[in-house]
Amino acid sequence: MTTFHERRLALSVDVVLRLAKRSDLPKLEWYGQYAHFRAVYRRTFHEMQSGNRLMLVADCQDYPIGQVFIQLRSQEQHIAQDGRRAYLYSLRVMEMFRGLGIGSRLVYEAESILAAMGYTWVTIAAAKTNAKARNLYERLGYRVFGEDPGDWSYTDHRNIVQYVHDPCWLLEKNLRVR
Ligand SMILES: CC(C)(COP(=O)(O)OP(=O)(O)OC[C@H]1O[C@@H](n2cnc3c(N)ncnc32)[C@H](O)[C@@H]1OP(=O)(O)O)[C@@H](O)C(=O)NCCC(=O)NCCS
Repeated sequence: MTTFHERRLALSVDVVLRLAKRSDLPKLEWYGQYAHFRAVYRRTFHEMQSGNRLMLVADCQDYPIGQVFIQLRSQEQHIAQDGRRAYLYSLRVMEMFRGLGIGSRLVYEAESILAAMGYTWVTIAAAKTNAKARNLYERLGYRVFGEDPGDWSYTDHRNIVQYVHDPCWLLEKNLRVR
């Protein structure tokens, strides 16, 4: 068998944090992994255009390798309240880019946007099965203040309604306490 001694390339690539653009929508499906959220992404993008939500992405070579979405208002005021409390959700980073600080930076930049908009509180949810996410949020200054049954539904790319049950901790952070 031919032997090949591994070679190491030390590359430096720029990752740019920016708001999502329409051409990101198919790419946010991550080559099929999140195709089931096609309609959710489309709706979230429209909600960004109408000022109810923001989609922040981490872009590497014009590909969104990470994301966090921000809900700016809600009927449930412990989740989000116009001008006062916002909800961060759908935080994820592509597996091969994890552990490099991108997830933390997405949360930090989302907080900066919200502070500049005059928001005081940020809510974030961590699935009870996802202890690592809860640890990460606590390290970023969030504290558990409640829990949620995590029941919601969406229509997938095959037009089938999917019901989700994912109980979670609710965590919050006061942006004025730095
Ligand atoms: C959570 C997540 C966005 C963090 O992104 P990231 O770029 O790796 O974050 P950072 O590099 O800033 O921080 C890394 C920390 O995230 C933690 N982490 C949190 N959730 C994790 C998960 N599901 N899988 C792996 N690591 C996770 C790691 O333990 C790591 O902590 P450590 O440094 O003590 O080992 C990323 O792990 C991810 O996309 N996970 C899958 C989706 C998810 O669980 N999202 C949270 C929804 S509640």
